[in-house]
Amino acid sequence: MEPSQLKIKSYELPTVIKHGVGALGALGEETARLGIRRPLVVTDKGMVATGHVDRAASLLKAHGLEPAVFDGVVGNPSIHHVARGSEAYRDHRADGMVAIGGGSSMDTAKAIGVEVAHGGKILDYEYGHTPLSRRIPPLVCVPTTSGTGSEVTLWSVITDPTRQIKFNVGGPLIGPHVALIDPLLAVGLPPHLTAFTGMDALSHAVECFTCAYAQPFTDAVALLAMEYVGKSLRVAFANGQDVDARYTMAMAAMLAGLAYGSESAGAVHAMAQSFGGGFDVHHGYLTGIMLAPCSEYNLLGNPGKYARIAVALGEDVRGLPTLEAARRGVAAMAALTRDLEFPPFCDFTGARPADIPRLAKLAEADPQTVGNPRLIDARGYEKIYARLMGG
Ligand SMILES: [Fe+2]
Repeated sequence: MEPSQLKIKSYELPTVIKHGVGALGALGEETARLGIRRPLVVTDKGMVATGHVDRAASLLKAHGLEPAVFDGVVGNPSIHHVARGSEAYRDHRADGMVAIGGGSSMDTAKAIGVEVAHGGKILDYEYGHTPLSRRIPPLVCVPTTSGTGSEVTLWSVITDPTRQIKFNVGGPLIGPHVALIDPLLAVGLPPHLTAFTGMDALSHAVECFTCAYAQPFTDAVALLAMEYVGKSLRVAFANGQDVDARYTMAMAAMLAGLAYGSESAGAVHAMAQSFGGGFDVHHGYLTGIMLAPCSEYNLLGNPGKYARIAVALGEDVRGLPTLEAARRGVAAMAALTRDLEFPPFCDFTGARPADIPRLAKLAEADPQTVGNPRLIDARGYEKIYARLMGG
């Protein structure tokens, strides 16, 4: 028996998932059903400009609810944005939340939920510190980017500017109560963001499928998420108006989010999160660009699973030895980032080879290093960073 089978595993999903074209129309009803009367709408200014927030507020008011909008979320939100959101929650005397946007808005809402339910600061509840003991207030998540899957994950990722890292807070108590997934909300997403967020979804599926925490349920959802990305991400990038492709990508992101379960990912997220704490770069760009080089490093740790990834991404591996099929899977990931026109790493991030030793140490210290399919330390991360920077 494999050592991984000797550990008891569990899967807990606290989230009701409603999805489909026009699903946003159920927002008032779903929010009211949770007993919320005074929702705080957690979002960012860009989302307000799209008109989606006004529409959401109207839907809430139509059910007799009294919403207030907190639009202070930014990309890579910090502990300070969370603190401001908690203040807005208390000022409004809110009794629940509606998060509209990408992972930043949903993760901020979860973190606000932790602060208002427990008192104290979100930093107190960093993974490995004080465990969460209370359920967050009712939360409806409305994703708009088809990437993070945060609408169903049990994690919130927040930046600590002092340490220049992102840290995780999580567990079943933080899971959203309702995920309302409407592909029409992603129709206006520009191609580069479609590419970044879609590759983030793929990285969740690949990492959770191959890491030490994988189990039959997470394997099942991860494989379908990969198939959906293989089938639809290029189409959504090329024609953002294609509602079928948008819906398939929305489902890919949700399924990949479910692949997380209550565990974490691996080297891609260890690198992306430790890097993203110091460089203000889109998380999906980082995970997307890091996915193939990390997988190239990792595939020796579990060639059979990387071979299945190749099949899920549409590669014909019939007759190939397992290791060769696994390499096809990695090549398929790299081909995706090329087709999606990912800019080169140093140009886009501003990182330089001189930064590698420091970045590698930060990645090694990230808790997500532990589940990686191939044992990895700072030396391993240095190799991957060198590949990313053209070495
Ligand atoms: Fe991610």
